[in-house]
Amino acid sequence: MRFSVLTLFPELIETVARTSITGRAIKNGRIELETIQIRDFAVNAYGQVDDSLYGGGTGMLLRPEPVYQAWLAATGQAGLSEVTHHPEKTRTIFLSPKGRVLNQTIVEELAACPHVILICGHYEGIDQRVLDTVVDEDLSIGDYVLTGGEIAATVLIDAISRLVPGVLPDQSAHEQESHSLGRLEHPQYTRPATWMGQNVPEILLSGHQAKIDRFQYLASLKDTLVKRPDLFNQLQLSAAEYQELIEFTCQDQNPLV
Ligand SMILES: C[S@@+](CC[C@H](N)C(=O)[O-])C[C@H]1O[C@@H](n2cnc3c(N)ncnc32)[C@H](O)[C@@H]1O
Repeated sequence: MRFSVLTLFPELIETVARTSITGRAIKNGRIELETIQIRDFAVNAYGQVDDSLYGGGTGMLLRPEPVYQAWLAATGQAGLSEVTHHPEKTRTIFLSPKGRVLNQTIVEELAACPHVILICGHYEGIDQRVLDTVVDEDLSIGDYVLTGGEIAATVLIDAISRLVPGVLPDQSAHEQESHSLGRLEHPQYTRPATWMGQNVPEILLSGHQAKIDRFQYLASLKDTLVKRPDLFNQLQLSAAEYQELIEFTCQDQNPLV
């Protein structure tokens, strides 16, 4: 799995991605990261990469030429006379507040792609013509506006990397986690068994794995219902499971609210 990030601030990407679990994954070759400095492809000797807006408006926009040259470098097509704008096995993503809002399903789709190119805008963004030429999809990390696409790119790199085989020590770990099965993960506990008068649910200390699994499944459904009713409404539960959930939430130890 390879990530190429086109950015004016490679240090932002490098600092975050080369830390902790993703950092280890880069070191041991599970994932590959290259950052491409858009300014290396500036339109003049002053390092210019942006310009004022046609049609008026405040702020500066990244010009198409440097972004295009950086993208050609990322796809290994710099200097070629014939260029493929949507190369096979490569997906070009523009991080943008206008894009489809990122979720675990999109992350899973991208994890299956061998080469992901992430284009980070800055200032007012990027000239539309180069985006129309090379981008496969715009992705947003939420309905708010950041100053640049770098933080969004690191979010994507992190979320995708943990699905790449060998990146997490226990590959099945992410299958249990929130959003993987359309619901939230059950609450988790560690030692001590009693803390500030609060006990860990007794069943977790019983050693009875089948009962623990059922408890955790119901606790996961309850958490989803309380914290993300929108997700809960999409779950296809049987009548028996609804009944079991109602009984579970009525138990003293697990009140619904
Ligand atoms: C200040 S923003 C530009 C916003 C743009 N003028 C607009 O109104 O749609 C600069 C850059 O930050 C990145 N960005 C901002 N918000 C984002 C978000 N929610 N998700 C992903 N990238 C974002 C994009 O790369 C964008 O080009």
